[in-house]
Amino acid sequence: MSASTLTVTDNRTGSTYEMPIEDGTVRAMDFRKIKTGADDFGLMLYDPAFMNTASCRSSITYIDGDRGILEYRGYPIEQLAESCSFLEVAYLILFGELPTADQLDRWVYEITHHTMLHETTKKFMEGFRHDAHPMTMLISSVTALSTVYPEATEVHDPTSRFLQIKRLIAKMPSIAAMSYRHSLGFPYVYPDNDLSYTENFMNMLWKMVEPKYAANPVLARALEVLFILHADHEQNCSTSTMRAVGSALANPYLCISSAASALSGPLHGGANEEVIKMLDEIDTAANIPAYIASVKGGKRKLMGFGHRVYKNFDPRATLIKKIAEQVFEVTGRNPKLDIALELERIALQDEYFISRKLYPNVDFYSGLIYQAIGFKPEMFTVLFAIPRTVGWLSQWQEMIVDPAQKIARPRQVYTGARNRRFIPMAERKPVEVKA
Ligand code: CMC
Repeated sequence: MSASTLTVTDNRTGSTYEMPIEDGTVRAMDFRKIKTGADDFGLMLYDPAFMNTASCRSSITYIDGDRGILEYRGYPIEQLAESCSFLEVAYLILFGELPTADQLDRWVYEITHHTMLHETTKKFMEGFRHDAHPMTMLISSVTALSTVYPEATEVHDPTSRFLQIKRLIAKMPSIAAMSYRHSLGFPYVYPDNDLSYTENFMNMLWKMVEPKYAANPVLARALEVLFILHADHEQNCSTSTMRAVGSALANPYLCISSAASALSGPLHGGANEEVIKMLDEIDTAANIPAYIASVKGGKRKLMGFGHRVYKNFDPRATLIKKIAEQVFEVTGRNPKLDIALELERIALQDEYFISRKLYPNVDFYSGLIYQAIGFKPEMFTVLFAIPRTVGWLSQWQEMIVDPAQKIARPRQVYTGARNRRFIPMAERKPVEVKA
């Protein structure tokens, strides 16, 4: 018997099965052969929320949740945040290697020359109410963009895929800025090819009547680093959505809008907006103990705390705290920072949070920085979606070319009724039903 195997005995039948262990995993399909008889479907694995299921092999992002390690293509996030531009990291994530100077120039040129939006996008945008949420406008507009590029359905054509990848990375900031200007009733600003990815985004957000927009370099760099920290995070809810929708061979614009929809939820990328609402609600440090008590009483969650994978610290949160100091030197201190720091201090001493290994995650401090830079809270999740587009597209590309992948299709354990006799309308009795 090989050492790298798992032996399972089915006590219902006394049969023993041997299964290979590869990379710390056993294949779920190997359990299907465990049957009580010829009519038995075979054993399935029950794993709601995919707590312990690897859905793919991936060489993009490595996370060690216990040690607080995050690497893109093997490079620690701290080094990339220190030394790289966002588009340099995007290149690394997509292609697996850091670009040379020439490769980076070419890549930056290509992304920069795809930032313009088709003029119909303005018309989609104008259809939204003035108070529409920017994240919802972003999601809807990316969906609408699929009508502009019908050839994007050619997902098995590498040339078409690469073109859509460049377009999506380039156009997400343009759509995001448009949604922001729409909500303020300001005219849309066209991209400026002289500027870097983040400076151009700031230009499209905030340029008014000045002939050329000049971004504050400290704030532009802070945004760049925040983008780097958000670029990928392996198989989270939105990335799994991207892969699942992509596995049906849907076009990548629709995959991105599906992934962004998942991101918008308050338990995922929407948490950064919720953190600011929470800090507003707490208002003063004196209210923190009562707030913590209500969290411990199960009435609410402490937003920006906890993570499915990180159980010691979120390395992104550590880096974000440092960026906050640099930003606040330019913008002045966000008054909510003191409440956030005190909340963190109290929570980290509390048995409830210690025993559940709940620590600040990436969303706890990012909103404070975004707000200091000048973003409204409704824009925070949009700021997450822009860089995460790189990760979503890399994961989609990896999935499409992986011969082991097929259309995503989980199984279920059916718990409902069977073989009921149809009841004609006249014979039906009212039954109380719950939504
Ligand atoms: N506040 C209070 N209690 C919490 C929190 C929290 N933020 N997070 C988890 N818990 C409790 C949870 O109630 C459970 O307690 P018990 O064992 O008594 O039932 C225990 O901790 C384990 O939590 P879980 O719900 O099983 O953990 P999960 O891995 O399913 O959820 C999470 C991870 C991020 C959804 C969750 O921690 C959470 O809802 N956090 C707040 C929202 C948030 O900040 N989300 C951003 C995540 S990071 C950015 C991203 O990747 O999107």
